[in-house]
Amino acid sequence: MRNTILAVLFSATLLSAILVYFIPQIGTIILLSICVLLLLIGVKDSLQTRHSLLRAFPLVARLRWLFEEERDKIQQYFIEDNLNGTPISREKRSLVYQRSKLQKDTIPFGTQHNVYAKGYEFVKHSLFPKDHRQIQGERVLFGSDKCTQKYEGSLINISAMSFGSLSKNAIMALNQGAKLGNFAHNTGEGGISSYHLQGGDLIFQVGTGYFGAGKSVDGKRVFDADIFKENAIRPEVKMIEIKFSQGAKPGHGGILPAKKNTEEIAKIRSVEPFTQVDSPPGHSAFSNYNELIGFIQELRELSEGKPIGIKFCVGDNDEIEDMFKAFSEAKNYPDFITVDGGEGGTGSAPMEFTNYIGTPLIEGLTFVNKLREKYNLKNQVKIIASGKAVDAFDIVKLLALGADTINMARSFMLSLGCIQARECNLDTCPVGVATQDPDLVKALVVQKKNIRVKNYHEKTILSLKDVVAAMGVSSFEELNASQVFRRTKNEKIVSLEEVYY
Ligand SMILES: Cc1cc2nc3c(=O)[nH]c(=O)nc-3n(C[C@H](O)[C@H](O)[C@H](O)COP(=O)(O)O)c2cc1C
Ligand code: SF4
Repeated sequence: MRNTILAVLFSATLLSAILVYFIPQIGTIILLSICVLLLLIGVKDSLQTRHSLLRAFPLVARLRWLFEEERDKIQQYFIEDNLNGTPISREKRSLVYQRSKLQKDTIPFGTQHNVYAKGYEFVKHSLFPKDHRQIQGERVLFGSDKCTQKYEGSLINISAMSFGSLSKNAIMALNQGAKLGNFAHNTGEGGISSYHLQGGDLIFQVGTGYFGAGKSVDGKRVFDADIFKENAIRPEVKMIEIKFSQGAKPGHGGILPAKKNTEEIAKIRSVEPFTQVDSPPGHSAFSNYNELIGFIQELRELSEGKPIGIKFCVGDNDEIEDMFKAFSEAKNYPDFITVDGGEGGTGSAPMEFTNYIGTPLIEGLTFVNKLREKYNLKNQVKIIASGKAVDAFDIVKLLALGADTINMARSFMLSLGCIQARECNLDTCPVGVATQDPDLVKALVVQKKNIRVKNYHEKTILSLKDVVAAMGVSSFEELNASQVFRRTKNEKIVSLEEVYY
């Protein structure tokens, strides 16, 4: 609003300056009116008592707020270079845009990365590369021996993002893209809406708020077997994911800002519209490992045998090991574990949780993978990894460290046209991805963006095959940590196996 007023004032000043030149009388009147308006704003500024800066520097101090508000955009448009945009660099963002639009995705004149810098990572190619068309393992079978409706899914899928945090058009485009490209779309913890039912495979997420899987009883959200079953047996739902935590706010439930909690969303979640919806930090359906195992089995039966997984960002290592021990002793386990990194994204989170809580993905993933080996569960439990995977190298690295498949959230948002304006929590997303404002939602044209979602997935898989073929590897399953290298501080090159295993 403030920007619009300033833009109008600026345009009016410019226009009247032109008018002063061509039609002096009218131009002078308009210019004088603007001066009077500015004078009144200046007097108001100097009399108000809320902002010291504005009292000391009436009118001028407003420019500071304007620049402060537009800081991210100025940084992105004029200051950041190809490698340092955060959280996702301009180089990687451009790659997603190019792959989504089927544009040229090659780069000229060599790498911009400093290959001698500490932390530089790479894989080695073979003198005898494979044919990229022959690379095996693009589809992965989910489902332990406890599950009767196994699911053969893609190596890359859309990570959890709810309708609520994303717009209806974004959800429709993602789901239609998933259908066109034969991959899966995780609903996020906000339940299943009609926008999710566009024909794409769904992973139905059950969060601590049990949206689409529970109800409110005395102000508390509780699981409800009938409500869950109704959604879980839908043919589109291929797997179910119980969410413990996500990397961007581990130990803190989801947050749906009041502005984004429209009547429609509130109805789907059965909550009060236009109030902030905070999911509880923990589950009420179970409170120890044995109850968790019972809950997993209950969901498996209610869903008529579909794979049931759990999602978390690694926190206390002992707890995670105790959980594996319990799985092993009970001889019952989840069909998959999604490991989210502390670097994960979200629509809205408290700063401390985003920045300082939760194990980063690489350490979390390798820890979970080691436990899976230790407790001999590799044949039963698949590992999905999520956390800033954008290009084929990111994916190769995660597969080499133990992941079976990769989930991506922000990369797919970029494929929808996200410009990393980082306003997802304000309901002002300028490209209609993370907003419920109908005027902004309209900006996202589903029929165009669904193709981009599909293209990005397809091109990334192709690039993944290219990289693996160049390494001389014939199947994604053959990737391991000894094949990825890192430069350490003493100018030494070590494999990730030496670092993490
Ligand atoms: C807008 C947005 C909404 C999200 N909503 C959920 C959610 O409902 N449930 C969940 O488990 N994770 C949620 N996440 C986290 C992602 O699923 C993913 O784990 C995280 O962003 C890391 O993946 P990325 O680096 O590919 O974005 C959300 C992320 C974003 C960006
Ligand atoms: S463009 Fe929209 S979705 Fe992307 S970061 Fe900004 S507000 Fe979030």
